[in-house]
Amino acid sequence: MRDGAVHAGLKDVEPAWWRSAVVYQIYPRSFADSDGDGVGDLAGIGSRLDYLAALGVDAVWLSPIYPSPMADFGYDVSDYTDIDPVFGDLAAFDVLLAEAHARGLRIILDWVPNHTSSRHPWFLESRSSRDSAKRDWYVWRDGHGDNPPNNWVSAFGGPAWTRDGATGQWYLHLFLEEQPDLNWANAGVVDAMHQTLRFWLDRGVDGFRADVVHLIGKDEALPDQPAEVAQLDIVGTHDYAGTHALLRGIRAVLDDYDQERVMVGEVTLSSPSKLVPYYGQGDELHMVFNFALMHLPWTAEAFAGALDAADGLLSSPVAWPCWVLSNHDQPRQRSRFSGSEEQARAAAVLLLTLRGTPFLFAGEELGLLDADIPDAARLDPGGRDGSRAPIPWDAAAPYGWPSRPWLPFPPEPGLRNAETESADPDSMLQLYRRLLALRKRSGALQLGSWRRRDAPEGTLLYERRRGDELRLVAANFTAAAVSGVEASAGWRVEAATHLDAEGRRWGGDLAADQAVILARD
Ligand code: GLC
Repeated sequence: MRDGAVHAGLKDVEPAWWRSAVVYQIYPRSFADSDGDGVGDLAGIGSRLDYLAALGVDAVWLSPIYPSPMADFGYDVSDYTDIDPVFGDLAAFDVLLAEAHARGLRIILDWVPNHTSSRHPWFLESRSSRDSAKRDWYVWRDGHGDNPPNNWVSAFGGPAWTRDGATGQWYLHLFLEEQPDLNWANAGVVDAMHQTLRFWLDRGVDGFRADVVHLIGKDEALPDQPAEVAQLDIVGTHDYAGTHALLRGIRAVLDDYDQERVMVGEVTLSSPSKLVPYYGQGDELHMVFNFALMHLPWTAEAFAGALDAADGLLSSPVAWPCWVLSNHDQPRQRSRFSGSEEQARAAAVLLLTLRGTPFLFAGEELGLLDADIPDAARLDPGGRDGSRAPIPWDAAAPYGWPSRPWLPFPPEPGLRNAETESADPDSMLQLYRRLLALRKRSGALQLGSWRRRDAPEGTLLYERRRGDELRLVAANFTAAAVSGVEASAGWRVEAATHLDAEGRRWGGDLAADQAVILARD
């Protein structure tokens, strides 16, 4: 066993800890700044661990913290086994990991296997000549005259190929030209990337979130995209069978460790049915994000459809669902719901009571909106700055940041901040704390079965059951009160979107955009 000591602080060493966990995603640049350079860092995160423990989450996923030229804010990695100085260093990471483990919080790192930075030493060597020992570590091809080798479009727009002056060949990049794709058909790449996992696993990390991991296998013929999808970037459709063997190899690296480490994969294929094969036979990804809920209108029909579909598809014991309502690539929940706090509250009740592991994006628990970023201040090539704005901690400017942060704050930081919301029993933050505490003491909510029940139009009702323990969850997606929701007697409101409804006998009435969790009276 390589890792006993670092886990000594964790009480729960059950094999599938990640099934009952709630994972909190931190965008490190925007979480907390310890040194006053306007960019969040590891010591800043460390200073907020008590906040996270009090919130009640179980694990933290850190978006990339590796050395990076930051063309894609860390998703362009120039060294997989170090820390970018803007965030700290390896010693600071070890301290953070130990302090998190001491509080029972696990740490999951982002792992970016599909591409490196164009300034990674591997790519510098690869591009240096056609004969370089690492030439084949990336995807180089001759073009067709002045045209690229095929018709693939990059996720940030334009061709997925750039011609390199030094050798006249083109290299593949499904994202920015500063993010060349690795060639996973090369055994040296496979080995080197496995080593990067072992580096962090040996240090004691609890797992990884694997960035666009469905892209790593590629048909070496690199066939054109069919004409009907040729204008779309390939990231949403690329689904090559050869990726699965690579995922089994990656899983074997994790399985080599005694205490169970997790890998959750970002697979951005549009149909949930396409996600299922990425679980393999329980020998590929432990979990695959289901992004379906992020793109739904706020209607009971839409949510019922997505939940029924997932329930049908993810029924095998190895295909444990994984839910997301927002992340660093998408607008925040409230912004998607036209600013409605009520809908964002109800969405929180749903996220934290579905069957599967919820991922919660930092700041959602404060009900933040996307920041308004003036054109001149925009930094992200993908236009995603709004949801990446800094977290306001204190009620007074500069809101717990020692100096002006790299992006503007979200709207109303004087009201929407951790300090103010901690003091208000009916705040969004307190709602999340109550929901997380209830989930933690309910086996039915963590691991129970899920079944939808009939409910009046505009509402959603489902049960969670484990042994004798039963909970009902009801939500109203309309702007009017609805009655007759679960008419049977003997239920009590255990949690609700607002405090005043909690603890009451259930009469079957849901207020506009209200959600409740019911327990037997
Ligand atoms: C993933 C990340 C996104 C990044 C892209 C390229 O989708 O979530 O932020 O830009 O991969 O690495």
